[in-house]
Amino acid sequence: MTTAPTHAKGLEGVIAGETEICNVEQTSLIYRGYEIADLAANASFEEVAYLLLVGNKPTADELASFKAELVAERSLPGAVVEFLKTSGDLVNNQYAVPMDILRTAVSILSHLDADCQDNAADANLRKSKRLLAQIPTVIGHMQNSIEGKEFIAPNANLSHSANLLYMMTGSEPTPEAEKVMDVSLVLYAEHDYNASTFTARVISGTLGDLHGAVTGAIAALKGKLHGGANEAAMDMLADIRKDIGPDNDLGKVTDWMHKAFAEKRKLMGFGHRVYKNGDHRAPILHGLGRKAAEARGEEFVKLFELGEMVQKIMEDEKKIYPNVDFPCGMTYFTMGIPVPQYTPIFVASRITGWAAHIMEQHANNRLIRPRVAYIGPAPRNWND
Ligand code: CMC
Repeated sequence: MTTAPTHAKGLEGVIAGETEICNVEQTSLIYRGYEIADLAANASFEEVAYLLLVGNKPTADELASFKAELVAERSLPGAVVEFLKTSGDLVNNQYAVPMDILRTAVSILSHLDADCQDNAADANLRKSKRLLAQIPTVIGHMQNSIEGKEFIAPNANLSHSANLLYMMTGSEPTPEAEKVMDVSLVLYAEHDYNASTFTARVISGTLGDLHGAVTGAIAALKGKLHGGANEAAMDMLADIRKDIGPDNDLGKVTDWMHKAFAEKRKLMGFGHRVYKNGDHRAPILHGLGRKAAEARGEEFVKLFELGEMVQKIMEDEKKIYPNVDFPCGMTYFTMGIPVPQYTPIFVASRITGWAAHIMEQHANNRLIRPRVAYIGPAPRNWND
């Protein structure tokens, strides 16, 4: 029998480590001292990535060379390109979804990275930058393959956000679309000991390598209770739309919600383990997404109106608030992004937070190995 004195299901409320990277509180979300609203309004994704990976706000020169390094690392080794050529078949005809393809691509990238087995700080930083630069190319090529199109090469003149959209679609985004994508990546970049980051820290705590930790983190992020919620939230809105028809009839929306409550269903994009009065990131993305919807036309505005009805009913009747994944689903839909790529795009951002945590773990490591309360059978003999 174990003698662990306490047990919190899902580790709720447990402080499982220390970090200098991020602080998630009821009233604030801070990346290395900077409040999220400040970053969303004033910093580019590349600046936030530098802040998370290196530890401080970049000077103009540091930012310029960081951006140049990222641009130089965007193309993929031949073996990964060959694998991605098969991704359309794996997704369209076999059993894979884009998050699985991305997980495998990162794993293959590790085999071709000269720094793979080196956990030293400088090697880890090089690998972090490389993955940050390579992941949008993986997503772009994969989407091209799913659509049966030729691969679109990265465009060195475009920012991280604009290039991601460009490689997926083949057209350069408008400045407005680039801005919405950029802010969404800033909002998604880091969130302390969420499940995927904790996974990455556990793997790196064994002195596992950065690519391995990121591969595990991608698998953790895929789940609907975590990053997969941005796809699930959009799927849920599409289901409501299918059931109630094109008009945002409040009575029908309310009936749909009451049925979901009666069936004790979890509504995707709502609730949070830490934020019980609302996720600071959600209103920022909702505002930007709604503005994009207004620019795109009635169909998209109606989607946001439907989302707002769902949100109001949840808040009024359950006191449960949307998390960032709820407006993300509607926002990425408005931008024309295929739903199964929403969570891979989350990865294109969260790679920065994961890498920062992996480096922090390796810099001051102790194996993460908690105990568990045994509740199985009492001791017995095999031959009885
Ligand atoms: N829909 C309906 N009821 C909910 C929801 C929801 N989305 N979230 C929480 N509740 C209820 C839950 O049923 C429980 O009620 P009761 O006390 O009557 O049993 C109460 O609220 C407390 O919920 P919990 O399940 O104990 O909360 P948790 O901290 O274990 O779970 C969560 C947090 C995020 C997993 C959960 O809220 C959830 O499943 N949300 C839907 C999935 C989602 O949106 N995930 C994204 C998380 S945030 C961003 C990210 O990681 O990407």
